[in-house]
Amino acid sequence: MTTHTRTLPAAFRRFRRLRRSRALRDLVRETRLSPQGFVYPLFVTHGDNVRREIDSMPGQYQLSLDQLPAEAEELRSLGIPAVLLFGLPASKDDAGSEAYDDDGIVQRAIRTLKQAAPDLAVITDVCLCEYTSHGHCGVVVDGEVDNDQTLPLLARTAVSHAQAGADIVAPSDMMDGRVAAIRQALDEAGFAATPIMSYAAKQASAFYGPFRVAAESAPQFGDRRGYQMDPANAREAMREIEADIEEGADIVIVKPALPNLDLIARARERFDLPLAAYNVSGEYAMVKAAAAAGYLDERLATLEVLTAIRRAGADIIITYHAKEAARWLGE
Ligand code: PBG
Repeated sequence: MTTHTRTLPAAFRRFRRLRRSRALRDLVRETRLSPQGFVYPLFVTHGDNVRREIDSMPGQYQLSLDQLPAEAEELRSLGIPAVLLFGLPASKDDAGSEAYDDDGIVQRAIRTLKQAAPDLAVITDVCLCEYTSHGHCGVVVDGEVDNDQTLPLLARTAVSHAQAGADIVAPSDMMDGRVAAIRQALDEAGFAATPIMSYAAKQASAFYGPFRVAAESAPQFGDRRGYQMDPANAREAMREIEADIEEGADIVIVKPALPNLDLIARARERFDLPLAAYNVSGEYAMVKAAAAAGYLDERLATLEVLTAIRRAGADIIITYHAKEAARWLGE
């Protein structure tokens, strides 16, 4: 026996015993990632044969309807159960009319997907910002987004998505009372069985920047701080979530994900509903940019990010990494 082993303390824990091989590490892993918990966002646009890569989000595309069946087939083969649809309208106006047009781009995309791949869950983003000429998430009156005038338009949008066949509607506008308004409108229209996945705690975040390029939805004046949350407020985030649950939300979302792992963990402790986290465009773009520059290992970084979001307590992760992560997890 060598001298140094004799000088060791009498008892200490050998954590390294269970880290010695991949098999042992796999066996004791506490947090497991699966594509079954992923939701993949899709940007749908008018036109034919459009597959336009988004500058700010390498590897993500604006897609025309004809591209959707192949996309759905790829997701099925990867074991990803759901998509989240965002639409690029043919034209924008003050009231965001294409959002609730039964022949709007999202409504058509829902029908295309449900026909091509009935088993794929189609979730729709319910918001006006992609459809309004001013780029705000509601009706603007005297330079300010009017909460109560926006509610009927959101409700109408949700009903038209449900009519087109959406499996879940996901309001992301952050108006007060929208979950109650949407629930009531869905019930009255005969869609009592359609769930609401509410962006309950959504902050005014710099990390949506790349998305606004993708969805062409940047506000034309001001910012969204009058309706989206201040990232500094954690207790208020819990009250937002609580209110959405009381109003009838079936799934709640915390967004963005990485700067809010604490909020995800708190929400997990406090509420028993399924909890989703949105790993947003800026989080995706950061990893892509650093990987492209050779600053980090893309595969390891991506899986680490997704594992952290899952470990914090999210059941569902909405992520642009869904397809590549599913591939890596299957290797
Ligand atoms: C629409 C909406 C936004 C995102 C999802 N829904 C943009 C915003 O609020 O400005 C952001 C998603 C992302 O960054 O990936 N209101």
